[in-house]
Amino acid sequence: MKTDRFRGRDFLTIADYGREEIETILEVALDFKRKFAVRESHRLLDDMTLFMIFYGMSLRTRNSFEAGMTQLGGHAHYLSPGEIYTPALDEEVREYRTESVSDVARVLSRMGHGIAIRCFGKAVHWVYGAGQEVLDGFAEWADIPVINMESDIYHPCQGMADILTMREKLGHLEGKKFVMSWAFSPRSQKPLSVAHSALQVTSLMGMNITVAHPERFDLDPRIMDLVRANSEKYGGSVEVVDDMAEACRGADVIYAKNWTSRHYLPPEVDKPMFEEVKKLFEQNRHWICDEEKMKLAHRNAIFMHCLPADRNFEVTSAVMDGPQSAVFDQAENRLHAQKAIMALIMG
Ligand code: CP
Repeated sequence: MKTDRFRGRDFLTIADYGREEIETILEVALDFKRKFAVRESHRLLDDMTLFMIFYGMSLRTRNSFEAGMTQLGGHAHYLSPGEIYTPALDEEVREYRTESVSDVARVLSRMGHGIAIRCFGKAVHWVYGAGQEVLDGFAEWADIPVINMESDIYHPCQGMADILTMREKLGHLEGKKFVMSWAFSPRSQKPLSVAHSALQVTSLMGMNITVAHPERFDLDPRIMDLVRANSEKYGGSVEVVDDMAEACRGADVIYAKNWTSRHYLPPEVDKPMFEEVKKLFEQNRHWICDEEKMKLAHRNAIFMHCLPADRNFEVTSAVMDGPQSAVFDQAENRLHAQKAIMALIMG
């Protein structure tokens, strides 16, 4: 494949990339991982700048992009809305406090080589899809690649690190059982993005997918349609169940992760109803990945979580710190996967 087909493109969702392109990103990521390990120079983005706009907190995403740009010879610039004029969609523009996304995107395009954005939740009043709209606005107006560092719908960089980790741990993924399970958290305000992107990329790889969740925590039907279409094309399968233990039986991967209910978020309701969501959460405290659930899985199964995890709520510490846990490999692979993405689209 001609790798210059990546140059100048945005990285907003896995759905914008085909199976062959995802394979290329993984190959470049593994090459960078080897180079990083032996300290071989790979300064493919010398003197380039990535602007990172974080509307919310981050540990892994911020540090992996910053370290990644340094290792590629460039610089990642951290921008915090509130300290800069907050980039806002036209209907949210307030004089001298915000600046329109279209203007910010065009200004930054004159100064650097990529714009990466994290936007969901409080910054967009928990309107489901509004975070992605901000990213799409940047992509429309910027002349340089725009990278999604997590919206309310997608977390594609996490998805790439996840699939890289599965490849390393399990080898060929076709026909392997991937379980994405909802898990309990004391905090009811978490996006659906990690689950969506993981399902998009595992379905591209022909994995047999089981999604498990209690009632009212179903994922976005538009994403599920895409996942089913991928499965048909690449030879996997998709089932949805309402029992975590049943889902874990025979699994090769258990990914246990909390997400909120989009049925209690605008635009489906007038304003976010997190108290209602909390009540639903409380009814499902038993949705935790523990050693009993891991015993139901394949004996070489791995446990995955994007982190930060709610220890002893989503997953027990015994599982997270146990021999089957791949969570720190996933975090490490954020660096290598994102460097591959940046080198291919910004290089
Ligand atoms: N997994 C992930 O995106 O982590 P951060 O929120 O720390 O960036």
